[in-house]
Amino acid sequence: MRVAGRLASEVLDFIGDHVQAGVSTEQLDQLCHDYMVNVQGTVPAPLNYAPPGHTPYPKSICTSVNHQVCHGVPGERVLRNGDIVNIDITVIKDGWHGDTSRMFIVGEGSIQARRLCDITYQAMWRGISMVKPGATLGDIGYAIQSFAEGQGFSVVREFCGHGIGQIFHEDPQILHYGRPGTGLKLVEGMVFTIEPMINAGRAGIRQLGDGWTIVTKDHSLSAQWEHTVAVLEDGFEVLTVSAGSPPPP
Ligand code: MF3
Ligand code: CO
Ligand code: CO
Repeated sequence: MRVAGRLASEVLDFIGDHVQAGVSTEQLDQLCHDYMVNVQGTVPAPLNYAPPGHTPYPKSICTSVNHQVCHGVPGERVLRNGDIVNIDITVIKDGWHGDTSRMFIVGEGSIQARRLCDITYQAMWRGISMVKPGATLGDIGYAIQSFAEGQGFSVVREFCGHGIGQIFHEDPQILHYGRPGTGLKLVEGMVFTIEPMINAGRAGIRQLGDGWTIVTKDHSLSAQWEHTVAVLEDGFEVLTVSAGSPPPP
């Protein structure tokens, strides 16, 4: 899973320079798809992914722009200066999954947009820092929620992190809110994602007619970062790291 995690992160390293005003999200999808398949020899896990109650996902990556929370489907939309976009990459290598996402700001971005992306990054890391044997899922959720809400932002409830391995999404669910000491106890060897979605406005969301794209109900900006994390004997290891990963805060 270290290999799959590094490869997923390297797709984000690769695409960063292409995230510029004038590029369409489907161009980003095509570039990532070709890099995964032809350069890495990985399988893009989202392509044709069809969990119960969903139509097959039509693209190889997710691109969620501005008030889109997650699962934004790449299309003709062209990025403009000031947009913020989450790019979420999941690769399969030798049967194992690596799942990671980052925020990109097109041009300079507003002060609020930059702050939301930064606070969400810090929130993800506060969650990651809690990971060690004996800690609980509630400890992770509480660390994220208390920090994000303390900054005046809100936590999306309907989507969460997840166990991951030879299966893309498996138990346990990793909620990004909670109470200390509650929920499942972490055990060495568990691998799961932490991927908080934080809104500048209210927490409510709705799904668009494409059956995938999730947006904020109040149209406020939303940000997300994601890492795949393993529980080690003495703490955690982030598996989705590469040369271009932003350093921990
Ligand atoms: N990568 C997303 C996650 O973090 C899941 C995307 S599923 C898709 O769990 F079908 F929308 F691609
Ligand atoms: Co995930
Ligand atoms: Co993901």
